[in-house]
Amino acid sequence: MPNPIKDIKKEVDKLRDEINFHNYRYYVLDSPVVSDAEYDKLMRGLIELEAKYPELITTESPTQRVGAKPSEAFGTVKHTMAMLSIENSFSIEETKKFDASVRKELGINHEIEYVVEPKIDGLAVELIYENGVFTTGSTRGDGYTGEDITQNLKTIRSIPMRLLTSPSASHSPLRAPFRLEVRGEVFLSIKAFKKINKELEERGEVLFANARNAAAGSLRQLDSKITALRPLDIFCYGIGTVKGVQFTTHFETLNALKAFGLKINPLVKICNGIDEAIDYHSQMEEKRDGLPYGVDGIVIKVNNLELQERLGVRTRYPKWVLAYKFKAREGTTRIKDIIADVGRTGALTPVAVMEPVEIGDITGSVTITRATLHNQDEIDRKDVRIGDTVVVARAGDVIPEVVMVIKEKRTGKEKTYTIPHECPSCHSKIERIGKIHYCTGGLSCPAQIKETIKHFVSKRAMDIEGLGDKHIEQFVDDGLIMDVADLYYIKKSDLLKLERWAEKSADNLIDAIEKSKTPTLPRLIYGLGIRQVGEHMAHVLAEEFGTLEAIMEADKDRLLSVRDIGPETAESIYDFFQEPHNRKVIEKLKKAGVVVSQMKMRVPSGRGKLSGKTFLFTGALESFSRDKAKELVEKHGGKVAAGISKGVDYVVVGTEPGSKYDEAKKKGLKIITEEEFKKIVD
Ligand code: IVH
Repeated sequence: MPNPIKDIKKEVDKLRDEINFHNYRYYVLDSPVVSDAEYDKLMRGLIELEAKYPELITTESPTQRVGAKPSEAFGTVKHTMAMLSIENSFSIEETKKFDASVRKELGINHEIEYVVEPKIDGLAVELIYENGVFTTGSTRGDGYTGEDITQNLKTIRSIPMRLLTSPSASHSPLRAPFRLEVRGEVFLSIKAFKKINKELEERGEVLFANARNAAAGSLRQLDSKITALRPLDIFCYGIGTVKGVQFTTHFETLNALKAFGLKINPLVKICNGIDEAIDYHSQMEEKRDGLPYGVDGIVIKVNNLELQERLGVRTRYPKWVLAYKFKAREGTTRIKDIIADVGRTGALTPVAVMEPVEIGDITGSVTITRATLHNQDEIDRKDVRIGDTVVVARAGDVIPEVVMVIKEKRTGKEKTYTIPHECPSCHSKIERIGKIHYCTGGLSCPAQIKETIKHFVSKRAMDIEGLGDKHIEQFVDDGLIMDVADLYYIKKSDLLKLERWAEKSADNLIDAIEKSKTPTLPRLIYGLGIRQVGEHMAHVLAEEFGTLEAIMEADKDRLLSVRDIGPETAESIYDFFQEPHNRKVIEKLKKAGVVVSQMKMRVPSGRGKLSGKTFLFTGALESFSRDKAKELVEKHGGKVAAGISKGVDYVVVGTEPGSKYDEAKKKGLKIITEEEFKKIVD
């Protein structure tokens, strides 16, 4: 007699195995073997069967990842083996010291084999698999007892509900151990973190300070349905108590976890000796910004488990492992004062003046004393006060910003701040447009004048060499210049009257100013600092109108007829040139002999000898800067691409080319040398 329920159970098991396998392909290996539709079909089949035969539902069924009722509070889980911390190192010396003490303790004088791994910036969790089934998941807690977050961990698709080795799984040769405690770091990708914060912002809610906090907030949700909406992920990096399986090295352990279907970081490596580990640290620090998840250092582990055991544990840290940290991107410091910075357009930016704090980036550490607070709304939202202890951060080239206040550190003496009603530089009235406060002083405001001139002389505008911000401040404060045109009327004798100026420096500056008198049209337009007109728009205007005079004569409709120019930009350009002061300055520039160099004018695309041709540069060129090379190509009507694509006609390769060179070779693009490039543009 056939047993129908037994057959159905078989079918259910088969579906679950298949679904688990496809989850693994998709979430762990990132290489699915079925389409989403096929996957959905399997899932629907399983849901239907389980609905019909609820007695067959098990807690580890893939249908049970989401859907549990919200809890009142988390239960606790005692770790059978303590989840300890790791000792930190911040330098090569400290890292070498660690190696020396490992060798001394073990009495070994040859190189030690280490496993190195990225130190993921997330939250430590423990996953318990009993006979191949995920039964309990917990946070690290105090290291001895954590919170039971099983339900939330089940929403993470890269955590298998069953190990790939369970008896019914046909995909792995390993047998599931009786008990396997896996440890790993749960994290959110940078992209997911940004998306969550954007959504929170749109809803006017408090943002997460960083991806780590967002991951923690998501994982410790009492309602697992909310956790399920956050695309959390995991990298497993170790084990706790295991029964029914044995390993001899850490690397072997990781490979076994991988075979069990758990997600292991692909950048894990074996190193022979500490110097290789130190090299890995610098490679990873360089890679750091390109990784899709946050990494705050590397972890160096003695590979041999017997040696690990012999080394044992100090009080809080095992002696076989070291976290060699990267330079922090975040720091904690105190706000001494808040001031309002007046920008070129008159916009006031509140800036926190802080006690110095060291913050690192790829190029090294920098001491930071100022951080932007963006605008009044942001100050209010984060409730930042003078005297507060705050977290400041910088990422890439971005200006440091105040991320959050550590409210626990408040003493009650902190003072709130509001942007003043008067401009701190010229005392004109302040008006608010949208989120931004503006000084209404226009070009009678020294701060705006200074910023306008700084922009005008900058590298991508008139490029006056050797004229720094400090000089401009001095010239404006001493009344030597009031607008950008005044620069061209400075005499050597004027400079010699000022503090810190001597014959040679004065000659050099006069020379540099003279040299800047023949800019290209886009550079001049960009340098004028018209609101909404960046470098790209300056090129658009130059191409369309050909001369500054033509742009000045254009009315709003004419400007609007240009592709790329929207109403706001048209208005801003029109208003700029209607302003009598601006017309006067332009007149003064002309009188001083500032003329657009026709020679260097970009030939509208479609007309030059390189029209329709696209160039890409990789590596350093000997005879020109990147900007110059770009200008040359554009002068002849060609284009410069930023990345490899089929549309690139020539890849110009300089010394030490980057990965684009390899890509170009792979794609079979035409590769030329700098000499050949010179011949083409000559
Ligand atoms: S091993 C006893 N490996 O860093 C050693 N930890 O600062 C146990 N972490 O609590 C940890 N990536 O949350 C290890 N590849 C990695 C890691 C890692 C991140 C975290 C983990 C640990 C913390 C210590």
